Amino acid sequence: MMQSSLDYSMKELESILQKTNEIILNQYKQSKEQPGFRCAKQKEVEAWFDEPLPKLGMDPIKLLEKVKEKVLENANGNFGPNMYGYVISGGNQISTIADFLASTINQNVAKWHMSPVMTEIEKRVVAWTAEMVGFVPEAGGVMVSGGSAATLTGLTVARNIFFRQKNINKHGLFGIKPFTVYCSTETHNCTDKSVALLGLGTDHLRRIPVKDDFTIDLSALESKILADIAAGYTPFCVIGNAGTVNTGAVDDLVGLSAIAKKYGLWFHVDGAYGGLVVSLPGLKHKYNGMQLADSIGVDYHKWLYQPFEVGCTLVKNWSLLREAYFKQADYLDTSFEKEEQRVEFNEHYFQLSRNAKAFKVWMSLKAYGFSKIQAMMQKDINLARYLENLINTSDDFELKSKSDLGIVCFRYIGSRLTSAEITEINQKLIIALESDGRIFITGTRLNDEFVLRACIINHRKSEASIEYMLDTIRDVAKSLVGSETQECYA
Ligand SMILES: Cc1ncc(COP(=O)(O)O)c(C=O)c1O
Repeated sequence: MMQSSLDYSMKELESILQKTNEIILNQYKQSKEQPGFRCAKQKEVEAWFDEPLPKLGMDPIKLLEKVKEKVLENANGNFGPNMYGYVISGGNQISTIADFLASTINQNVAKWHMSPVMTEIEKRVVAWTAEMVGFVPEAGGVMVSGGSAATLTGLTVARNIFFRQKNINKHGLFGIKPFTVYCSTETHNCTDKSVALLGLGTDHLRRIPVKDDFTIDLSALESKILADIAAGYTPFCVIGNAGTVNTGAVDDLVGLSAIAKKYGLWFHVDGAYGGLVVSLPGLKHKYNGMQLADSIGVDYHKWLYQPFEVGCTLVKNWSLLREAYFKQADYLDTSFEKEEQRVEFNEHYFQLSRNAKAFKVWMSLKAYGFSKIQAMMQKDINLARYLENLINTSDDFELKSKSDLGIVCFRYIGSRLTSAEITEINQKLIIALESDGRIFITGTRLNDEFVLRACIINHRKSEASIEYMLDTIRDVAKSLVGSETQECYA
């Protein structure tokens, strides 16, 4: 007989929810002890999921047990205090619940009348974001998947508005004199990807050298712009960093905005990692000039402690987004709704169907209040200073960066290691620490030197977690001196 729907009976659903509840509560009970990394061999993990397309379903309770065992218990410790890799924040409880609720009602934030409430909530979160980062109150904006999408969106608007006379949405870029984009060598690689996707060509992305503090060298920037003009290029956009991914460096945004103004360039600020820190009174001065941007990218799954994925692109007003993205279609026509002040998100962004990303941001700001979130950001930053101090007063570590934000780059130097040995052991440490699993940390290169990079962006961390991290590195490093790299589960 044909089944009437995919729904379980109310009784079954109740027990599924109860089981889910147990699993989630258990995760939170263990959050403090969560190891940073769950080490398993690639082939082993592949084998867990290597099965033919299931034609018949299984008991959902058994499925949840399998999910608990294989998925949850083998997930990296992103929400625990032992995660230092990349930029992985701890998430927060109310947003997790918000995601569940939003999926339950399954709204599509494409057109106002498809989701009046979620559309208005998204507009509200855009306005709050503008307020958090000190941008113009009439700013327009759109929720995107994260920092990379925020950069792509900002640069798309920049390109389309800058070349508005050429109507490049219709004619493409053919026949236009090559134009150039500027950013520092420390700028995130989503910029290269965006420039490539927009058809500008990465040959036209000018990576400008940085100063000792890893911020863009403004005089080198200006020289390059002048050289490009003399060579027949059209400089059109400059990107400033409000917190670089490597060290958290904040470019001189006042200086960048002045150069943008002088040469008529679009000024985009990548605030994916550090943008929200402008809201902290003690660090606001570092961000002077951010409010002068034409567009700003912000990532809420970083310093607003949201579960993946949610970020935002702000532009000076809504009409810029609409001009960049609107495309008429009969099935989306709103002309008969003219008297209404409805924002149609599909007209302001590339996607038509969109989930209610703003909802979790809205719920967490309502539940915790922004002051509490700011206090957590400040705590992360204080912990980074605490780590720097521990490194500076130790005999076996050296500090390799100086940041005002929550990233610390350093190396294990042991007691009598040579320079070549130090490089080797720090590279070996990454794999050995994965194998050990207690903490998760990643590396990067600064001034051509490999360094460990700890990103502190988790409201569940404490001074004790920072000490634990250094002690774990010490412990693993000692076992590595003179030995081969350890294999996962060796
Ligand atoms: C400065 C900066 N920009 C852009 C990104 C990319 O953000 P996402 O990973 O959300 O796409 C990151 C990620 O760490 C970042 O730190």
